Amino acid sequence: MAGKIPREFIDQLLQRTDIVDVVNSRVPLKRAGKDYQACCPFHDEKTPSFTVSRDKQFYHCFGCGAHGSAVSFFMEYERLSFPEAVEELARLQGIEVPRELSDQSPARDLRPLFDVLTQADAFFRLQLRRHPSASKAVEYLKGRGLSGEIAAEYGIGYAPPGWDNLLRELGPRFGAPLLTQAGLITEAEAGKSYDRFRDRIIFPIRDARGRVVAFGGRVLGDDKPKYLNSPETPVFHKGRQLYGLYEMIKTLRRPEQLLVVEGYMDVVALAQQGIRYAVATLGTATTAEHLEQVFRLTAEVAFCFDGDRAGREAGWKALKVALPLMSQGRGARFLFLPEGEDPDSLVRKEGADAFERRVREAEPLSDYLLKQLAAEADMGSLDGRARFAEAARGYIEQLPDGLFKQMMWRRLAERSGAPIEDLAPATAPVRSFRRPLLKESTRQYKGATPVRQAITLLLKEPRLALLEDLPPGWREVEAPGIALLRELAAVIAQEPSIDTGRLLEHWRGEEAFRHLATLSGVQPEIPVEGYEAEFRDCLKRLQRESWRQEFTRLTARVGHELSLTEQERVKTLTKLMAEKG
Ligand code: UTP
Ligand code: MN
Repeated sequence: MAGKIPREFIDQLLQRTDIVDVVNSRVPLKRAGKDYQACCPFHDEKTPSFTVSRDKQFYHCFGCGAHGSAVSFFMEYERLSFPEAVEELARLQGIEVPRELSDQSPARDLRPLFDVLTQADAFFRLQLRRHPSASKAVEYLKGRGLSGEIAAEYGIGYAPPGWDNLLRELGPRFGAPLLTQAGLITEAEAGKSYDRFRDRIIFPIRDARGRVVAFGGRVLGDDKPKYLNSPETPVFHKGRQLYGLYEMIKTLRRPEQLLVVEGYMDVVALAQQGIRYAVATLGTATTAEHLEQVFRLTAEVAFCFDGDRAGREAGWKALKVALPLMSQGRGARFLFLPEGEDPDSLVRKEGADAFERRVREAEPLSDYLLKQLAAEADMGSLDGRARFAEAARGYIEQLPDGLFKQMMWRRLAERSGAPIEDLAPATAPVRSFRRPLLKESTRQYKGATPVRQAITLLLKEPRLALLEDLPPGWREVEAPGIALLRELAAVIAQEPSIDTGRLLEHWRGEEAFRHLATLSGVQPEIPVEGYEAEFRDCLKRLQRESWRQEFTRLTARVGHELSLTEQERVKTLTKLMAEKG
C-alpha cells in the first residue's frame, strides 16, 4: 500500500489551489460580492445558498450546512476518499503526490516499475510500425475493423516473435529482476528468462491517470491461450483495474453512463463505432472495487454479458456485487446479448445506433432481480410465492437504506402477495440525505462555551489569533478543548496567512478533526465586523475563569501556610476578579 501523504505537502497543495476554481469546475459559480454562489450541489434548492469564499478557501451551504475545504469538496462531490481527493487536486496542479515511508508498510518506490512499463509500452508500439513481421499484426487489426487512429488511441502494439526481444531491449538498462517484477519476462529455469509476450497483439492497460500498469496480449490466430495478461504486480491488481477507463475519461470527462463489458476487443470495437463509454473487466468477475470506480464517474452503469449460461451467471454475480452500492440516485441495468455474440461482433454487425438502443433498453436491476427470482419459483402456488418472497428478501436487504429500497419492498409485496410489514424490517422513514442544519448551527454558537466559540471564530477568521493585546492569561485555564484552541493559535502564529481551508486540513486524520470540521460549519450570528470584539470577549471570559481557578487552588489549601508571594498573588487575583469587564 502507498504510504501516508505528508501533511506539509497537503498544506502546500492547498496554497497552490484555489477552491473557487475547484468548485467552479464542477458547479458553475456566480460572483456575489466578495464570495461566489451557486445552488447547493448537496441538497435540492431553487435559490442559491451555497457560498464559496476565496479568502477563506472554504465553502458553506446556509441551507443544508454542508461545508469544508477544497479537499472536502472533492470528497463529497466526487465521492472520493481523502487520498484520492488529494491526488485529484494534485493532478489539477500538475504535481505528483509524495508518500511518506512508514515502518509497517514500507512504501516502495514504484517509479522504476512505472518507468520500465512505459518503456515496454513504447517498444511494443514501435514494433507494430517497424518490425518486419508487424504487417500480419496490422492486417489482423484491420481485419477486425480497427482504424489506425483508434489503434493509436488505445496504444495498441505488437510483441514480435522470438524469445528475448524485449529482454534484450530493456534488460541492460533495467535489469532482469525489475523486468520480472513488472511481469514482462518469466523465468523458465534458474537464471534463464524470456519474454512473456511473444508474437501477440499488445493492449496496454492504463490506470485512471494514464500510466501503463500492465499488458494484455492476444494471439493472431486461434492458438491457446487466446489472451495472456500481465500477472498481478505492485501496480496491477486485476480486481481493481478497468480496461479503457483512462481512454474514456480522456474523451468524455463526465460520461452520462458507463457500459461494463467483458473483453479488450469489445471496448476498442465499441470505441471504433463511436461508443466511448465502455470499459472492460480483465477476465475477472466485476468486483465492488470496480463498481466504486464506476460510480465515482457516473451514477448510471449498464452491464453487458454474453447471452450464454456463463454470461447469465456473470450477470447474476455482478448484480450481487452491485446491490450494496445502489445508493440513492444510482442506477444499474443488465444487458444480455444474443447467443454467440459479443459487443464487438454485434456492434459491427448492426451498427452503433442499434447497439445503443439495446443499452438503453437494458433491464433495470430491480426488474432483473425480481424476474430472475420469479422465474426460479412456482409463482402459481402459495408455497412458491412464499419461497420467492423469502429469496428476494435476502437480496433486498442488501440495498442501502433509502427510497429505492422501500420501493423494492413495495414491489416485492405486490409480486408475492405478502403484506409489506411481513417482508420489510421496520424501517425508519426515509430522510433526505442531509437535514437542514441552519437553526441548530446558530444555536450551537450562542449556547457554546467560550472555548468552542473562540475556536469557531478562529476557524472563520484565523487572523484573530494575531491581534495585539489579547488577554494573556487565557492559555492557563483548564477547560475542555483548551489544548486545541492553543494549538490553533500556535499554528496560526507560525503561518500568519493561513486560511480556513488549510487550517482545518492541518488536523485531518486526527481525533480533533471531527470537532473542528463541525465547528467550521457553525455560523456565529454576528456581523463579521463584530468578530474581533467577540473573540476578545471569549478570551477575556477564559482569562477570568483561569483567575478563578487559580484563586480556588490557592485558597483551598487548608492547613498549609501560603508563602508570601502566594499571599500576594491571592490579593492580586481578588483585585483582578473584582474589576469590571
Ligand atoms: P473473450 O474470449 O470474450 O475475449 O474473453 P474477446 O475480447 O471477445 O476476444 P476476441 O474478440 O476473440 O479477441 C473476454 C476477456 O477475458 C479475458 C480477456 O480479458 C478477454 O478480453 N481472457 C480471455 C483472458 O484473459 N484469457 C483468455 O485466454 C481469454
Ligand atoms: Mn470477441
